[in-house]
Amino acid sequence: MSDAAIGIFDSGIGGLTVMRALVAHLPNEEFIYLGDTARLPYGTKSGDTVTRYAVQAAAALMKRKVKMLVVACNTASAVALPALQEMFAPVPVVGVIVPGAEAAVTAAPEGPIAVIATEGTVKGGAYVRAIEDHGRSIPVIQQACSLFVSIAEEGLVEGDIAEAIARRYIEPLLAAVPKPKALVLGCTHFPALKNTIAKVAGPDIRLVDSAETTAKAVEKILREKNLKRGSAAKPSHTFLATDAPDRFARVGEIFLGQPIDPGRVELVDLQT
Ligand code: DGL
Repeated sequence: MSDAAIGIFDSGIGGLTVMRALVAHLPNEEFIYLGDTARLPYGTKSGDTVTRYAVQAAAALMKRKVKMLVVACNTASAVALPALQEMFAPVPVVGVIVPGAEAAVTAAPEGPIAVIATEGTVKGGAYVRAIEDHGRSIPVIQQACSLFVSIAEEGLVEGDIAEAIARRYIEPLLAAVPKPKALVLGCTHFPALKNTIAKVAGPDIRLVDSAETTAKAVEKILREKNLKRGSAAKPSHTFLATDAPDRFARVGEIFLGQPIDPGRVELVDLQT
């Protein structure tokens, strides 16, 4: 069982930022990444719809006998994680919200912590709850930044347009009293805009990205459950998309940080 792959899914290509951290942290593991590109964005949809889509994506990966599932999408983690964990037990299902909250509390133990995410993640309040679960009363403020998803998908991660949009979203957070000490990039697409966000946020605010802490959480579970891949053969990764595999490969490279062969992105239908 330990030689099986780890499944990762996201609403699209943004979750490749999480896969990038996982591959760097667990270079001997095989990954199957599923991007539900036909139905992106999840961030503006209702919780019921996102849960339905997430269950279909997870089921498709389970059919491929993954040993563990990583929900790279913040919105799906925020609304569907308990349902997925219950439905697919005993396969471990890990989301990105709890690791992201942990990283934020480590970066700013007294707060305040600002969270930027999609509308769905902000509305559900999952980051606020996960930060509160650390047992301290840390002030948390949130801001939905839906346009960041579109500009990251366009590759407009730096320059005038990205900066103007970042200012619109982030300046109100900077005006909060007391000023936030950490800013959680609570969406798969936001790490791609890290330079621009850092420029607008200034040097006093630590940017927190859940990819690293999620990779560490995954590693811990693999170790505890004795699920680490034993094979010495070079691992190969599989990519699945529900629409436009060529675009997945082309834009996905920005997020994964390495080339993706379009011929190796398989088109899948989650509704059959
Ligand atoms: N993957 C989503 C998230 O991390 C962002 C894109 C979307 O809205 O589907 O919340």
